[in-house]
Amino acid sequence: MKKKVLLMGASGSGKTSMRSLIFSNNPASLTARLGATIDVEQNHVRFLGDLILNLWDCGGQDAFMDSYLTTQRSTIFQHVGVMIYVFDIESQGMNKDLEYYRDCLEGLKQYSPEAAVFLLVHKMDLAREPKNVVFEKKKRELEEASGEGAVTVFGTSIYDESLYKAWSSIVHTLIPNASVLSRHLTTFAAACSATEVVLFERTTFLVIATSSPVTPPSLPGATAEQTDLDRHELNPTRYERTSELVKAFKHSCSRVREEFHSLEMELYDFTAVLDEMTRNTYVLVIVHDPTIETAALKLNIRMARRKFE
Ligand code: GTP
Repeated sequence: MKKKVLLMGASGSGKTSMRSLIFSNNPASLTARLGATIDVEQNHVRFLGDLILNLWDCGGQDAFMDSYLTTQRSTIFQHVGVMIYVFDIESQGMNKDLEYYRDCLEGLKQYSPEAAVFLLVHKMDLAREPKNVVFEKKKRELEEASGEGAVTVFGTSIYDESLYKAWSSIVHTLIPNASVLSRHLTTFAAACSATEVVLFERTTFLVIATSSPVTPPSLPGATAEQTDLDRHELNPTRYERTSELVKAFKHSCSRVREEFHSLEMELYDFTAVLDEMTRNTYVLVIVHDPTIETAALKLNIRMARRKFE
């Protein structure tokens, strides 16, 4: 099953940079060397089993945009699963950006009315005012420009984990059996006495699915400190930060010509095991029970492989 993803936005807004970070495991520092994309560059990434992402990185120079909207209109906008439109927070030509964006929305409505639309307010690291103020202002502006269609807006930067949060949410909408996967992961988490189990795609390390969140046990007589600790353990940015850190670690491994296979961590209050689950996925198991051995977790992962393949 192939899902077409359009990546569009003005020239220099950062499309190829995010693609090279997420899909090619390149560090952010190398993106300055990327040249402008000529016409459309296509990528295929095999996700779970037979789900293939067909990513169309559409060069944003005016001449190319004009051609997407006229002569190439049907080729570009047909069979689209998701359109991601990138806006540079520092853009000097927001009116023109919005005009092209509205034209693309028209094209999408004409050829792929069912497609989901995601808007990225990108290069948030350059925001001069407080980030949340800038983001909310841009978000409102973009929602107004989008008319009646539903759009989802994210603030992103290649210099932090925000990019992984946005892309994981986008990819999640394309996975047909996400809720079934989540159910299986919840069963697996229970079998391992795990606090949480997370499934990542192998190349991109985007989050595919997680076990259902565990509500911290509100034990009678639990102190305020314990409740704080529980909250701390379930940090809301934990998924995207893990993606970002593991990608950086994989990059370091490749620099010393080593291949990344698995990770085990035993810290004072929890144990983490990251290991291959299927050909296209990695699984992360987080356990807070100190009596559970990592070897037992690895054995459980090995035994669950067939179920998830
Ligand atoms: P076209 O291929 O012409 O459509 O441009 P593009 O949208 O693919 O832009 P590209 O990815 O080539 O990025 C342009 C510049 O923006 C590069 O120098 C990147 O290093 C920089 N850039 C990309 N993302 C970010 C970001 O999050 N923050 C900052 N500060 N710079 C970024």
